[in-house]
Amino acid sequence: MNDQDVSRKDFLRTAGSVALFAALGISFSSCSSPTAAETDPAPTPPPPSGSNGITISGNTITVNLNTSTTEGLKNSGGWLLINAAQVIVVNVDGSTIRAFSSVCTHQGCSTNWAFSSGLFECTCHGSRFNTSGQVVRGPAASNLPEYSVNRNGDTVTITKS
Ligand code: FES
Repeated sequence: MNDQDVSRKDFLRTAGSVALFAALGISFSSCSSPTAAETDPAPTPPPPSGSNGITISGNTITVNLNTSTTEGLKNSGGWLLINAAQVIVVNVDGSTIRAFSSVCTHQGCSTNWAFSSGLFECTCHGSRFNTSGQVVRGPAASNLPEYSVNRNGDTVTITKS
């Protein structure tokens, strides 16, 4: 291992931390100089829960596409697993967004999803589903239930039924 390897590792570790904080909606600032917020005698309150752009209220999930967590859904192939609502969401073609139950119809895994080349894969046992929720490879035998999606600009509302 040389100094370059160490620097690269440090960089990747730091970049990973920044990405994690961004995903969690946590912000931080440098200690080198005070920011406006640090010198403001009446700092703004912390953002409310749901600041990652996702709000869950009963059977309704609202997704604001203008956060670092959710903005990928604006583009074709962008997808999101919302574990708290057991929903997977995908942008099918750049404009159409569809949502499905994340509870795999094989044996109920709900958190082990991957998405590639237009296919969802439940990595528990390898079942695959297309962007219509249809099984394209078992062992699952049933399609994923689909939920209604209403998009109004950059606000997506999913209704679980
Ligand atoms: Fe998804 Fe088995 S639970 S493939």
